Amino acid sequence: MKIVVAIGGSILLKEYDSKKFKKYSEILKKLTEKHKLFVVVGGGKPARDYINIVRDLGAGEAQCDDIGIEITRINAKLLLSSLGSAAYQKVPHNFQEALEFSTSGKIIVMGGTEPAHSTDAVSAILAEYINADKLINLTSVDGMYTKDPNKYDDAELISEITATELLEFLSGKDIKAGTYEFFDTTAVQMIKRSSLETVITNGYEPENLIKAINGEKVGTKVISE
Ligand code: UTP
Repeated sequence: MKIVVAIGGSILLKEYDSKKFKKYSEILKKLTEKHKLFVVVGGGKPARDYINIVRDLGAGEAQCDDIGIEITRINAKLLLSSLGSAAYQKVPHNFQEALEFSTSGKIIVMGGTEPAHSTDAVSAILAEYINADKLINLTSVDGMYTKDPNKYDDAELISEITATELLEFLSGKDIKAGTYEFFDTTAVQMIKRSSLETVITNGYEPENLIKAINGEKVGTKVISE
């Protein structure tokens, strides 16, 4: 299968060390024996820290986004270091480059592309661009809940949600640089229009990636309706 894997920066850099990069590169190398992989890496805390600094310096939102994009590309380079010869050792800056580099037969790793969305959207656009079979979004929560699980004990994990329902839930959420909520609306629109099989799951457990690829019930499946 051709698979796009989005890994949140908050997953890779939670502890500010190399552990998650190593763990993910082991898994990705194994998966590449059977699948063609495209990985999109997020910015995490370093992106938010740098965005706050540049915003304080008077930058507008698009310029803040631009700083965020640079950080996602640095994170992509860290994953490339860990993957070594299994990956194409250059970060594509756009979708055409990603496609071009993929002719190498190696794992492709990229970060952001342009302002006004997050790497969730990059992963969904990329999936559409390369005609992927699956999009797996590894994030810092287990998936979509009925209520905020940090506030309510009776919050339940939703195993399936339609893209339309997810769009309704996300409408009115903050879209400033560095503050994308649970999932990005641009990403959901892509999922809706291109019938993209999508799973959102907890990336703190890297094995969830394998489970999601194997079709096991893990996290929230987004149905393109
Ligand atoms: P992320 O995609 O990591 O955003 O990009 P996020 O969801 O806030 O963070 P994590 O990784 O899931 O914790 C970081 C920031 O970079 C800018 C946005 O400002 C985003 O919030 N960005 C990223 C863009 O403007 N365009 C892109 O294509 C990617």
